Amino acid sequence: MASKPWGGRFGEKTDRRVEEFSESISFDRRLFEHDIRGSTAHAEMLALVGLISADECRQIVRGLSEIRAEIESGAFPFTLEREDIHMHIEAALIDRLGDVGRKLHTARSRNDQVATDVKLWARDAIDRVDARAETLQRAFVAAADRHRDLILPGYTHLQRAQPVLAAHYFLAFVEKLARDRDRLADCRKRLNVLPLGAAALAGTTLPIDRDHVAKALGFDGVTANSLDTSSDRDFALESAFVLTMIAEHLSGWAEEWVIWSTQEFSFLKLPDALCTGSSIMPQKKNPDVLELIRGRTARVVGSLTTLLILIKGLPLAYNRDLQEDKEPLFDAFDTVEACLDLAAVVVDGATLRADRIAARLDEGFLDATTLMEYLIKQGVPQRTGHEIVGHLVGLCESRGCRLADLPAEEFARAHPKLDAGVIGTLGVANAVKAFRSYGSTAPAEVEKQLGRWKVLLGSIEEVRP
Ligand code: ARG
Repeated sequence: MASKPWGGRFGEKTDRRVEEFSESISFDRRLFEHDIRGSTAHAEMLALVGLISADECRQIVRGLSEIRAEIESGAFPFTLEREDIHMHIEAALIDRLGDVGRKLHTARSRNDQVATDVKLWARDAIDRVDARAETLQRAFVAAADRHRDLILPGYTHLQRAQPVLAAHYFLAFVEKLARDRDRLADCRKRLNVLPLGAAALAGTTLPIDRDHVAKALGFDGVTANSLDTSSDRDFALESAFVLTMIAEHLSGWAEEWVIWSTQEFSFLKLPDALCTGSSIMPQKKNPDVLELIRGRTARVVGSLTTLLILIKGLPLAYNRDLQEDKEPLFDAFDTVEACLDLAAVVVDGATLRADRIAARLDEGFLDATTLMEYLIKQGVPQRTGHEIVGHLVGLCESRGCRLADLPAEEFARAHPKLDAGVIGTLGVANAVKAFRSYGSTAPAEVEKQLGRWKVLLGSIEEVRP
């Protein structure tokens, strides 16, 4: 039954049900470009070390490039019998070249081949996600710039806490994405070691040159243990985790903006073009894009979970279970890429409703902590200051007024250090200006951070002395 490349020892044709059950061509065909890149480098190395002739190498390389063109054109025939992308491409090469094509798989197994292909694919995908994350960072920096003077209520527990500059708010997401991009780079670095040459699990007796292949494919080096290599999918799990973190970050932002776009909050206006309506309620304008970004996080978490459970308990070295790594990995990348794209569109298109935000900024005692810190600066112990201001807030609540509305006598009665200087700390605008610490929402600090990000993202030239 030599129609299968492994058919030599088989006396029966593969059961159709087994073929249908075990195929991966329906999803691993998207590795074709990377498979051909890997095979081309492999063939060139085989010629270099004398396992095939220079002419055979030329034929193989040309054949592979024709196959690539055929797949790209949509004319390439895919069939279940050929199981996966690796066997499709090799069989097509043999169809073209006969015995010369039968030499390509020298010193190679599908086990190191598939690991190489998936790494090459994931490396490209990491670069795509990184570029999109950077685009989203730029969108947040631009939004920070657009809302330079706007003050927002900052929340903890979704309860009004302290005032923050809108620019500070937007830069928070730039920082989260920066950590995500760091993780991507780190994952890419660990991934970027060539598996090819591990062969099935033990290496090969043939005189291959793995470093040559590594260089040709842009890997930083070669893996050092063939058993480990044949079984290793750490890179798939790591990238799925990094993607999950990105999705988690986006989901928190999306949730916040869903809330902000409600009638109750009215902080945010989304363009009509980015919203959808209701089939029954004519007045509705729904933030579906934000909801879907939030919802798709579930898919990414699901992919990571699938991968974690997939490799659990697998003995060395390659096991067919590993074929199941591709769909969750592809889906995690596809989902996060799409979410990052749309997130940037939403950030670019959305406007904070400065009037509505400002109108209610005096609610919620956003200046209470500043007042407490004023007392600390006058030498009052923190716990005492906390208690005094807490008492004043209670008084305001019972009178239905702001801290700034209390008469001077009330302050003086609360504590002798609460003198005329208090006035300069009350009110949200004063409270924001009072911040000092590095990383705080102090206007000067935020300005510095905004400038730093513009330089880092290349939006403005670095100012050199
Ligand atoms: N389609 C397989 C996968 O994705 C390729 C490796 C198959 N190796 C094997 N020994 N059957 O994992």
